[in-house]
Amino acid sequence: MLIDIKKAEELILNEQIVALPTETVYGLAGDATSDTSCQKIFDTKRRPYHNPLIIHVSNLEEAIKYGEFNPLAIKVAKQFWPGPITIIVMRKKSNISEIATSGLETIALRVPAHKIIQEMLQNTKKPFAAPSANLYSKVSPTMAGHIIKNFKNVDVVDGGKSIFGIESTIIDCTSAPKILRHGFITQESLSVLLGIKVLFSDNKDSIIAPGMAKKHYSPSSPLKINSDKANQGEFAINFGDSNLGGKYSLNLSANGDLIEAASNLYDMLILADDTALRDNLESIVVAKIPKESIGLAINDKLERAAEK
Ligand code: TXA
Ligand code: MG
Repeated sequence: MLIDIKKAEELILNEQIVALPTETVYGLAGDATSDTSCQKIFDTKRRPYHNPLIIHVSNLEEAIKYGEFNPLAIKVAKQFWPGPITIIVMRKKSNISEIATSGLETIALRVPAHKIIQEMLQNTKKPFAAPSANLYSKVSPTMAGHIIKNFKNVDVVDGGKSIFGIESTIIDCTSAPKILRHGFITQESLSVLLGIKVLFSDNKDSIIAPGMAKKHYSPSSPLKINSDKANQGEFAINFGDSNLGGKYSLNLSANGDLIEAASNLYDMLILADDTALRDNLESIVVAKIPKESIGLAINDKLERAAEK
């Protein structure tokens, strides 16, 4: 059901969970200080308990109550918050539920920019645990309708289409800074800001680094990537001037704009998947996307989505 901000705040304060818009993707949010709420998040998403949640707060001052921010982490936060980056720091002793952080000594913190979640954080004075509002390993939602379709019993605040459309960049600042998940804030811009080469830790083959599961963001239909042709039994997703063919096709960005492509990615995957299931298509086929800047994040999502 669609609900308004006041109702959503009331639910959060009563240890219920609600889906909220952020500038990246919609989150399934609950009071991060409540074990009950955090447990509901894991259970609703069917997410394994060892995969910790991102804690959303209204500003850096709040974040510092929950994590040890070293100078590098402060620099990243001051430059990019509020915005699409999550910073991992050592956890401070606080009232954040241990369930939310999967008992780790570290904590993932983010100050989101979207005005609805910002207003709610400020009004409730609670930190929100909020993973993306999809079933575990499925495609993340960028519109209220995606959530209503997937979860019968989750109330949603409609904040329109998420402007970025892919999850926040994750940077681990607990030692030499490294990127754990590509996103809109790129490796280059972080390296420039920090004056050091920020590395990407590609741990696709391990789930010890939580949440970087190899298979993720997956539609139900088989997905082929880096393709240059689709046949009549396939759904094509083009980029720029690619012309894959296929029974149906969409274009992530006809102008070849990676920012536009990122914001359309999940919605088009969901549309393609729904159509493929309806019409019994063999697979979804995606054109090559340049592996540069935001294209790195898009390729990373597609590779995980294509994992069997
Ligand atoms: O854009 C986003 O970040 C969205 C919106 C809703 O804010 N949230 C999101 O959350 O993408 P989620 O749960 O789908 O992804 C969080 C990722 C997971 O891969 C998790 O394993 C990782 O962050 N994570 C959380 N805490 C961590 C920690 N202490 N160390 C390493 N990874 C952590
Ligand atoms: Mg997710």
